[in-house]
Amino acid sequence: MLLKGVRPYGEGDPVDVLIRDGVIAEIGNDLEHDGEHDGDVIEGGILLPGFVDLHTHLREPGREDTETIATGSKAAALGGYTAVFAMANTDPVADNAVIVEHVARRGREVGLVDVHPVGAVTVGLKGEMLAELGTMAKSSANVRVFSDDGHCVHDPLIMRRALEYSKSLGAVIAQHAEEPRLTVGAQAHEGENAARLGLQGWPAAAEESIVARDCILAQQVGARLHVCHVSTAGTAEILKWAKARGAANVPQAGRPGISAEVTPHHLLLTDERLETYDPINKVNPPLRTQTDVDALRRALADGTIDCVATDHAPHAVQDKDCEWSAARPGMLGLQTALSVVVKTMVETGLLDWRGVARVMSEKPAEIAGLTDHGRPVEVGEPANLTLIDPGAKWVVRGAELASVAGNTPFEGMELPGVVTATILRGRVTASRGRIDA
Ligand code: DOR
Ligand code: ZN
Repeated sequence: MLLKGVRPYGEGDPVDVLIRDGVIAEIGNDLEHDGEHDGDVIEGGILLPGFVDLHTHLREPGREDTETIATGSKAAALGGYTAVFAMANTDPVADNAVIVEHVARRGREVGLVDVHPVGAVTVGLKGEMLAELGTMAKSSANVRVFSDDGHCVHDPLIMRRALEYSKSLGAVIAQHAEEPRLTVGAQAHEGENAARLGLQGWPAAAEESIVARDCILAQQVGARLHVCHVSTAGTAEILKWAKARGAANVPQAGRPGISAEVTPHHLLLTDERLETYDPINKVNPPLRTQTDVDALRRALADGTIDCVATDHAPHAVQDKDCEWSAARPGMLGLQTALSVVVKTMVETGLLDWRGVARVMSEKPAEIAGLTDHGRPVEVGEPANLTLIDPGAKWVVRGAELASVAGNTPFEGMELPGVVTATILRGRVTASRGRIDA
């Protein structure tokens, strides 16, 4: 296939990119496409490496009424993703080789995005006994990211053992940092708004105390820690301290290091949204203050926070359209992530397109040890690519998204930046808002 007049990283004059056998074959001017096997010609746009999401809830097995590997893969392709990591909090939990192999196989059958299962750290996400990390790592699913996400590995001794074990496997532990003793009954960010509305608070300290502890543990063990969905200014400060302190903090497979992600919703939304009591805004960790949002944006721009991850969390209507305390936490993210990053980071001048490639593709691929995603847009590299129309705008409608569930907090918002094509190993998986099956 041929990409005509595209701008890699949004830099320089438009060029043509010829893709053959799943690889970038040529980059130049006036390239010809040899009709025969180069079916597609796509014109214009900014060309970036395909996005990689370290944090997606695909809900299969167990909650196929909210998302399946097929529908989640469609959402991912439409959002510009070529690889996603499927969190382990399914039912049954992905804490053994059978489940992770099943998820990986379903992902391959659907074939729209590379689906990498995340393995649970502890059996049943209970935080009591280590799961068989080694068996999952050695399975055909080749698991390299482990997480109890949804739950915190709160016992420090179990966390230490998990870090030690993961080190020997060349894997990374992705921690959902939430000291559970500090968030009993918590409903929203502990602060003025929650207090006024009578909602039990989720204090910043519950996140920050675990992140500080885990950074110290990881550096002592010499293991790799990835901090999920950073939500507070204080956590960014702790990460800055820990990264400065760590001798070798480049998060590469098999190397010690600390890395962190931030979600699009924590880059844009605040606890001002509690006002309506609409549980569409309920998420864990909760939406915080504008001071936190500003600090998270700065931390992402300066590399203290390495990447953006969606925490795409589909929920059924009855679990969202109910009273606040009964609602489940979580929001859709795959199809809106790029646009929210453009709005919060590009339009504000905090990141250029090369920066977007870094936080949405290169860094997450590096953290997870993927060698075929997050690669430079250069001849000889695998054609896992995303094409963007930076000037276009669209209005978010939950009902029109590919997910089974429709719980987007961005409903009705006009957002900048449209994914015009997603290319997986030289094959168009999505173009102009449609799945290319
Ligand atoms: O808001 C959230 N939803 N946070 C989590 O940690 C889990 C996720 C889910 O599974 O719904
Ligand atoms: Zn989480």
